[in-house]
Amino acid sequence: MAQIIDGKDLASRKRTAIAEEVKAFSARYGRVPGLAVVLVGEDPASGIYVKNKKLACEKAGITSLSWQLSADTSQAELLGLIDELNANPGVDGILVQLPLPGGLNEDEVLLRIDPAKDVDGFHPFNMGMLLTGTPTLVPCTPRGIMEMLRDSGVELKGKDAVVVGRSNIVGKPIALLLMMEHATITVCHSRTKNLAEKISRADIVVAAIGKPEMVRGSWIKEGAVVIDVGVNRTEAGLKGDVEFEEASKRASLITPVPGGVGPMTITMLLENTLIAARARMS
Ligand code: GUN
Repeated sequence: MAQIIDGKDLASRKRTAIAEEVKAFSARYGRVPGLAVVLVGEDPASGIYVKNKKLACEKAGITSLSWQLSADTSQAELLGLIDELNANPGVDGILVQLPLPGGLNEDEVLLRIDPAKDVDGFHPFNMGMLLTGTPTLVPCTPRGIMEMLRDSGVELKGKDAVVVGRSNIVGKPIALLLMMEHATITVCHSRTKNLAEKISRADIVVAAIGKPEMVRGSWIKEGAVVIDVGVNRTEAGLKGDVEFEEASKRASLITPVPGGVGPMTITMLLENTLIAARARMS
């Protein structure tokens, strides 16, 4: 039976440490780190994520400033807001919640954010720095996963890791981070052939496809480490991308949904905000 990687517990330990560091920052520089959170439209899931992010900031002593824009906001208006936030000295981090409503150009919005304030790590500059092996601000979910693996003492060197999903938010950056730790990476996606067979050879599986229980438990190799990034609302409740019950009979370590990767993503956002704030003061 697999041991559970308790993301909530690790997140709580890390948030206590971050709150202390925020205090030290404020004492040293006479100001509190600030995160600007921009939500466009009424997507209910995005609304919940944003609320949780703001709450976590407050608990850590980080000022959160928020902008709730209507779904019919124009590209020019949104870019204008980004310009203001880039120029605002009290703003250390800018987070535009994705996905944006149809009609808005996400790539152009992300490109407009000052890379030094890009606490999501989605700007092509920060993505490029990660690609070349000199990471700056790194996307929060992949960073959270790496922290969980490190805290659980998982050896990555020489291991076979299969990443399911090729998004800019999770799949691509986690593949790069695992590669930097000397794992051998296979990135699978919707067109991959023989997915079950590829997963069955993996020492580490990261599932980030957004399809409930798509990774079957019977595909997991005995003793593998399973990281489930999925958050899928189904009639049977919140489900991950992995068939948890079956997978946990075979895995050595597995993350639950909820209480696994999710809390770590927000924790890394707090840490990225602190990192960005410190870098701007130096
Ligand atoms: N939507 C889903 N995940 C994320 C994230 O990590 N950051 C932002 N900004 N939007 C998201």
